[in-house]
Amino acid sequence: MQDTSFAIHPGTKKQLVGENLKDIGAVTSYKVNEGMVNFKTENGYVRILFHSNRTVRVTMNPKHEPTLTTSFAVVEERLRVTPIVSDNENVVQIKTTELIVNVMKTPFRLTVTDSSGKTIIQEINKGLAFNENGEVICFKKMEDNDHFYGFGEKTGFLDKRGEKMEMWNTDVYAPHNPETDALYQSIPFFITLRDGHAHGVFFDNTGKSHFDLKSESNTYSFKAESGQMDYYVFTGPTMKDVLGQYTQLTGTMPIPPKWALGYHQSRYSYETDEEVRQLVNDFLKKEIPVDAIYLDIHYMDGYRVFTFDRDRFPDPKGLIEDLKKVGMKIVPIVDPGVKEDPEYDIYQEGVRESHFCKYVEGNIYFGDVWPGNSAFPDFTSTKARKWWGEKHKYYTDLGIEGIWNDMNEPAIFNDTKTMDVKVMHENDGDPKTHRQLHNVYGFLMGEATYEGMKKQLNGKRTFLLTRAGYAGVQRYASVWTGDNRSFWEHLQLALPMCMNLGMSGVAFCGPDVGGFAHDSSGELLVRWTQFGTFTPYFRNHSAINTVRQEPWSFGENVEKLTKKYIEQRYVWMPHLYTLFREANQTGVPVMRPLVLEYPTDENTVNLSDQFMIGDNVLVAPIMTPTTSHRVVYFPEGRWINYWTEEVLVGNKHHLVEAPLDILPIFIKEGSIIPHGTVKQSTAIPETELTYHIYLGEKNAASYRLYEDDGTTFGYENGATFEQEITCERENNLISISLKESNGSYDPTWIKETFVLHHCEDDLDIIINGEEVDHSQKNYNKLKKSLTFTIDR
Ligand code: GLC
Repeated sequence: MQDTSFAIHPGTKKQLVGENLKDIGAVTSYKVNEGMVNFKTENGYVRILFHSNRTVRVTMNPKHEPTLTTSFAVVEERLRVTPIVSDNENVVQIKTTELIVNVMKTPFRLTVTDSSGKTIIQEINKGLAFNENGEVICFKKMEDNDHFYGFGEKTGFLDKRGEKMEMWNTDVYAPHNPETDALYQSIPFFITLRDGHAHGVFFDNTGKSHFDLKSESNTYSFKAESGQMDYYVFTGPTMKDVLGQYTQLTGTMPIPPKWALGYHQSRYSYETDEEVRQLVNDFLKKEIPVDAIYLDIHYMDGYRVFTFDRDRFPDPKGLIEDLKKVGMKIVPIVDPGVKEDPEYDIYQEGVRESHFCKYVEGNIYFGDVWPGNSAFPDFTSTKARKWWGEKHKYYTDLGIEGIWNDMNEPAIFNDTKTMDVKVMHENDGDPKTHRQLHNVYGFLMGEATYEGMKKQLNGKRTFLLTRAGYAGVQRYASVWTGDNRSFWEHLQLALPMCMNLGMSGVAFCGPDVGGFAHDSSGELLVRWTQFGTFTPYFRNHSAINTVRQEPWSFGENVEKLTKKYIEQRYVWMPHLYTLFREANQTGVPVMRPLVLEYPTDENTVNLSDQFMIGDNVLVAPIMTPTTSHRVVYFPEGRWINYWTEEVLVGNKHHLVEAPLDILPIFIKEGSIIPHGTVKQSTAIPETELTYHIYLGEKNAASYRLYEDDGTTFGYENGATFEQEITCERENNLISISLKESNGSYDPTWIKETFVLHHCEDDLDIIINGEEVDHSQKNYNKLKKSLTFTIDR
């Protein structure tokens, strides 16, 4: 009935979430204790504390003093900040060097300002409230010029102002459209941009939560259906600062193994040893680069995790070894559902050792997934996580280094699409219902898997891909955006979705290239692969019973063009890898909305169909069929067309030509971009590095390249290589200086090439004080570029 017009029958009005709210009321007393201020109000309790000088945490509980346990998201220790507390009858002021919190007493209303007095968040008519159903809510003033980013994985445009969003990890096979709200990931964090300044809020609640930036024109709210109110305010003042503060709290991404950044090929499913070998041979024969092949559910024996079907894959170890010899990895899927089968060791062990989720009465919860009736590990228990992690020895013993976690919302084939919310989670002695912890199930499966793999791999980096997650998921996994379709609309959708994931701390993300469900077409695959060249995660994946989607599936021309862009991925690898390192250090994503770099440019605030890689490369994919041009917006400065070298003046829209073989890419004048070489996979060491120098009208440019061994955690202990290159121009003299850091890693390339774009042919060049001989220089008249190479 819900799928017919009956759904809007006048008699079917539902009780709305958030009705019958009770305000927290006036402050009746307060106490200062260990740097925290504990308020008792007419109707509840509020506690304010500083997590650091720049981050304040607000907790509210209507029934008792708020607890200070955090969800699994928070890793940063609270700094001992002792604020100055003063009272002027109507207002309690709590102050650090960076932040001022003013609490109006009657009723309790909170304002946070920075040290210069600029308002960050403010409560006016409404503040903290709750209702009898156990819902907690808080309201904040929304200024006319506020723009909102983050919120994890959401459909729709970049700026979430005017949206209502729900956080409840959900397996949505179809549809993903503008009114599809809750998807696989729940990241209750957002950044507000106001007049070029930014602040952020993280609402740490692992049950169902809602954000409403729509119902009222000057107020927004966030609320949860269970648990207490618990949120952090990050003061910025830039969006990058907010991302830094948020990822300091919830952790940054470890640097992925380099192979995880290459091109990956998947299909539901490559079903046999023979099929995988054939696939690999095709890549090799056609010389199309690839780093990983995925095994979807058919590799298993009756969909039992930690098994291989020996008829289809008689010798998995041999297969993996053979693939390794040609530089490719195997990534198998691992779902959480463990088949109910008393003769299956994993099931037996899980039951005997009590690792599965149970009802409060003690009976195991069973749900229907791929293997049929299945039990689900209780990942909230450290013991169960450890058990699950150790089980991955099965895979590492076969030579596997990466795992793909799916169905971990958890998805169940029933009407609610998930586990019975009454199921209990053991939660290390603090039992809670699934209703309260639903959104961390996938995150904790990720933790169990990542930590288990890391341990087994003994110093080698592992790669984990996950569908579900919660705030902090970046510590363990890369995220793909689930079951999209081979629609042009889904290609369009992927841009703001990935940009907002990046603005939610998840720097390593991407959609299924070519589209998962539905039949792709050659043209769509080319355009999507072009986009994939620059998504942090780059995997072609398609569903069972859809047309084949490997690069050669649509004839020669499509093969040639997809190959060209897969190769580009490897060419751009040194730059991408440097940006991954930046994300690892600062939380600033690899793929960025323009607004992150140009926050005061009004044209960027909701720009959803183009993006940046780092701070100086602009990418504007074509996302409609039979289209060979598009409008591109250029922020201030001058921009160089990567393919034609044409200069485009910024602060302006331009019409750009882009026939099927062209992905529009632009480099900002005054930039240096490193390039590597085309290779079959990242397993082949880089032999030559090229610095492309785009000085244009600028007289200086610089870049700091990052490199390490790409496979171990040596980078955490100084096994790194950094090279600072600066290029300056004075009349006809170009001086380049190269400075290496004192990290202990020695890179593999033996030659360094420099390409000066847009220049004359009579330049004198000095590199590290030595003049480059005339005979070494190569001038390309057509491109107006000057090239020379030195030995390293
Ligand atoms: C889910 C996943 C998809 C996978 C399929 C079969 O739909 O999202 O990627 O191929 O399950 O395992």
